[in-house]
Amino acid sequence: MQLFLDTANLSEIEEAASWGVISGVTTNPTLVAKEKGMEFSALVQKITALVDGPVSAEVIAIDAAGMVKEARTLAALAKNVVIKIPMGTEGLQAVKVLSSENIATNVTLVFSPQQGLLAALAGATYVSPFAGRLDDIGHDGLDVVADLVEIFESYGMDTQVIAASIRHPLHVLESARAGAHIATVPFGVLKRMADHPLTEQGIQRFLADWESIQTKG
Ligand code: G3P
Repeated sequence: MQLFLDTANLSEIEEAASWGVISGVTTNPTLVAKEKGMEFSALVQKITALVDGPVSAEVIAIDAAGMVKEARTLAALAKNVVIKIPMGTEGLQAVKVLSSENIATNVTLVFSPQQGLLAALAGATYVSPFAGRLDDIGHDGLDVVADLVEIFESYGMDTQVIAASIRHPLHVLESARAGAHIATVPFGVLKRMADHPLTEQGIQRFLADWESIQTKG
């Protein structure tokens, strides 16, 4: 399993990359809007320079032709750009065209296994089921992740499942158990995955015991 960082913040990406645990980055218009003053193409280029792996950048157009046009421009920015395309019939058309041009795509805003299946059939490289947003409305978001993993494996489909809209470390564990190829996690969640009160307590005890020997000696 791989972890991607779900952010457009350069400091967070730099920090997480230095820990050696992230294999890619996903962004969306909401995350990009938080990075005020940064022009979108310039921001995408900076992110692609910080990580070797796939960097998802989302199109804004809602018609297939517009999505394809934007996608070609974004894909030309760096070799590791993946085009994030919103789910829907226009999005499927765009994915079909981009797939024939060997431009990698990540179909986003997937909330059902049926949507994910269509995206894969259209040629998506990745599909992103939004676990947290489904949980928010009383559905089990991880069920969609697990269903898609099972369907793609059953039929030998190459599309990879990115568990997205991850809200807490347990979502990451559940995604791993469900067999998700990737979970894309906000920086805060990644940080909390590294922390444990017993680890901190243990370090403090080791330090105190070590210090007591130094004093006696
Ligand atoms: O990048 C897409 C997804 O991870 C968004 O998450 O928390 O806005 O539902 P959230």
